[in-house]
Amino acid sequence: MHTAHEMSEWSAFSLHESIIDSVTANVAILNDECEIIAVNDAWMQFVDFNELELENYGLGLNYISFCESLDAPDASEARQGLRDLLAGEPGPLRYEYQIFLTNGPIWVRVTFTRISRDDRTLVILAHEDITVQRHAQAALGRATAALLHAEDDERRRIARELHDGTAQYLTGAKLMLGAMKVDGRAEKVRTEVEALLVHALEEIRSLSYVLHPPALEEMGLGPAIRQMAEGFARRTGLALQIDIADDFPKMARTTEVALYRVAQEALANVHRHSGSPRATIGLRQAGEMVLLSIRDYGVGLPDGAAPPTGVGLAGMRLRLEFVNGHIALASAVPGVLVEAWAPFLPKGEG
Ligand SMILES: Nc1ncnc2c1ncn2[C@@H]1O[C@H](COP(=O)(O)OP(=O)(O)OP(=O)(O)O)[C@@H](O)[C@H]1O
Ligand SMILES: [Mg+2]
Repeated sequence: MHTAHEMSEWSAFSLHESIIDSVTANVAILNDECEIIAVNDAWMQFVDFNELELENYGLGLNYISFCESLDAPDASEARQGLRDLLAGEPGPLRYEYQIFLTNGPIWVRVTFTRISRDDRTLVILAHEDITVQRHAQAALGRATAALLHAEDDERRRIARELHDGTAQYLTGAKLMLGAMKVDGRAEKVRTEVEALLVHALEEIRSLSYVLHPPALEEMGLGPAIRQMAEGFARRTGLALQIDIADDFPKMARTTEVALYRVAQEALANVHRHSGSPRATIGLRQAGEMVLLSIRDYGVGLPDGAAPPTGVGLAGMRLRLEFVNGHIALASAVPGVLVEAWAPFLPKGEG
């Protein structure tokens, strides 16, 4: 807390009591035996609303036994955290988990803060209901994934238009120019127009390639990643080992697009962030799943509990969630290992 001098005129106890009662989080104070010795108004309302069977709102009860009586399958880490805090861990500690109550499931964020004085310890715990936030986050994730998917579809449509439509007209015009038998000035014009058409064609081909690599459609994910990775290695000078079986089976288009974009982003990250001169990229079937792995031997992820998340990592995660897959990203000493998992769905399914 940060206070001005005027605050010293107020009795600390009545002030603290009023503050604790005025917050919307459920607050309880525990002694060093982990027994509940005070609860706030919000806590009492929570107990009443959810018809929890708690004598005297839990005063005198061991908080860990109280937690164990709740239906909260993921709360064991929080309980262990509380034990660690009482055993000397500095804290504050924060956890999020779900509780299944008679009125329905809720998500809570619990914060444990320890205060010690003269060998005595108190723990202040605050439970906040973050159900609405969690639902909003999940809905946003679904919406973004759907958006990425729509973007892939749109790119594919534009790529096809460019490749099968516009590029064909240009090719036709170029062929006709070539067939013209002319002399003098007309021949000069013909050569210039032909050169322009050749440039336009190259640009359209490479644009349509970036929008939606034709190899993905024609040959499937394995050869498409190989082609993209070889081009990437050539342009960047990265010594890239590619472990992909030549006969890697074709899969459902949504899975292939998701994994292809993950491979592109992971390689771009190796080049931009790792500083590694070499890397490997592999694709293999693992039981019912397909595993795409990208490993570099560079600086590893930045220190800190959660790595800074750019658009790249968030996009990879969402693309995989959309096809019921997931991504694991970890420092691999040296370097980074990215593992993208997706259910193996043969072409034509899903
Ligand atoms: N192979 C890697 N080696 C080291 N650090 C990495 C690697 N991949 C990712 N990172 C770290 O993770 C961060 C997030 O990566 P992410 O791809 O999400 O964002 P970005 O590459 O910085 O930007 P963009 O949104 O354009 O992709 C990077 O800024 C970098 O610090
Ligand atoms: Mg990136």
